[in-house]
Amino acid sequence: MDYDIKDINLADEGKVSVEWANKSMPVLNSIKKRFEKEKPLKGVRLGACLHVTTETASLMETLKAGGADISLCASNPLSTQDYVAAYLVKYHEIPVFAINGEDTETYYRHINSVLDGKPALTMDDGADLVSTIHGQRRELIEGIIGGTEETTTGVIRLKAMAEKGVLAFPLIAVNDANTKHMFDNRYGTGQSTIDGIIRATNRLIAGSTFVVCGYGWCSKGLALRASGMGANVVVTEINPMSALEAVMDGYRVMPIAEAAKIGDFFCTLTGDISVIRKEHFLTMKNGAIVANSGHFNVELEIEGLKEISTYTGRIRNYIDEYTLEDGRCIYILGEGRLVNLAAAEGHPSSVMDMSFANQALASEYLVKNSRDLKNIVYSVPEDIDREIARLKLESMGIHIDTLTPEQEKYLNSWEIGT
Ligand code: ADE
Repeated sequence: MDYDIKDINLADEGKVSVEWANKSMPVLNSIKKRFEKEKPLKGVRLGACLHVTTETASLMETLKAGGADISLCASNPLSTQDYVAAYLVKYHEIPVFAINGEDTETYYRHINSVLDGKPALTMDDGADLVSTIHGQRRELIEGIIGGTEETTTGVIRLKAMAEKGVLAFPLIAVNDANTKHMFDNRYGTGQSTIDGIIRATNRLIAGSTFVVCGYGWCSKGLALRASGMGANVVVTEINPMSALEAVMDGYRVMPIAEAAKIGDFFCTLTGDISVIRKEHFLTMKNGAIVANSGHFNVELEIEGLKEISTYTGRIRNYIDEYTLEDGRCIYILGEGRLVNLAAAEGHPSSVMDMSFANQALASEYLVKNSRDLKNIVYSVPEDIDREIARLKLESMGIHIDTLTPEQEKYLNSWEIGT
C-alpha cells in the first residue's frame, strides 16, 4: 500500500487520541454500527481531502465500516496530526498522504496521490480535490458519482463553478446543513480559535480589545467566546445586514482602518482575500497579535507586512515577529493559516460528531441517488439534517415535546385567527 506520512511509529499515540475523540462522537458511532451491517458504500472508491485529525479518523473508520475503499490527504499543510495519519495507515490500512508542515508542492502531490486512486466519490474541505479534478485531472470526471464539501469557503467555490456551468458532477454542501454550520462553525470555531490563540500566546483575553473581521457563523462564535472571556469585541464587516446584527448583538462595528489602531488581538474569518493589509499593519499598536481562522491563508496580507518590516523571525512556536521601522512589533500566529488547527487541535469532537455524521450520510445519499442527481450543488436533505439533530439530543439524554393533534391541525390551517 502506498502512503506518505511523517512516522508510522506514531500510530499507537494516535490510537489513544482517536479513542478519546470517539467517546464524544455518539452520532457518528451509531451510523458506523449501521454501516457495518448494511455496507451502503460497498466497493465505492472514496477520495478524501480533510484536516487529518482524530475526528477525521473516526469518520474514516465509519466510511470504511460502510464498505468504502478510502484514501486521504490533508486539506491544509499545517493541520495534520501526524499520529492520526500513522494510526490510519497502521490500524486501518488506509492510504494517507499528509505530513504536518508540508510545502505547497508536497501538498498538491498528496492531492494527486489521492486522485491517482480514481475516486468515485470526493470528500473535500475547501474544494481542492474538486478544483484539481476540474483543472488538471479531467480524465477522472467520467468515473465520479459526486462529492461532498465540508466548509463555507469550499461551498462558495463550488457554487461559483455551478453558476458558470462548469461543475461536472453533483456536489452536496455539507456546510449548508443546520446541524453543521449552526454548531461547528459557531461553537466549534468560537472555542477552537480562542484555544489556538491562547495555546500560541498564553496572553490574557480579559480586558483586551479583540477585533473580529467578518460576522458570519464562525465570527459570531468567536465574538461570543472572546466577549465571554472579558474582551471588548470590535467587529468589521462589508455586509450591512451582518454589521447590523453585530451592532444589535452588542459589539462595536467600524471599518478595519479604524479597528486596526485600537486592537490587541485581530482574527479574520471572512473567506475573502486581503482583509488586513499593509496600510492596516502600519497603524497597529506595538505588540498586536494577528491571526486568521478562515479556510485559506489569504486573509492577512503577509507579503505586505514583510515589505514594511526590518526584521522577521519565529520567536516561539506558532508566533512570527515582524518589527516595523519605528520598532513596533506585530505578531502573526500560525503563518496566517487556520489558527484553530495550526496552533490547536481544531473543533472539539462533540461538534465534529454532527458535521461528520452529515458527511457519512451525504455520501450514502449520493451513492443511492446518483442516477437522479444533476451537476449542481445540493443541500443535505432536510430529513437527514433533522435526524442528526434528533440523534444528538438523544445521545445527550435530552427529551423534547411533540405536537398534540390539536397543535398539528392548527399549524396546518389558516382559518383560525384572533
Ligand atoms: N475542521 C475544524 N476542526 C476540525 C477537526 N477537529 N477535524 C476535522 N476538521 C476540522
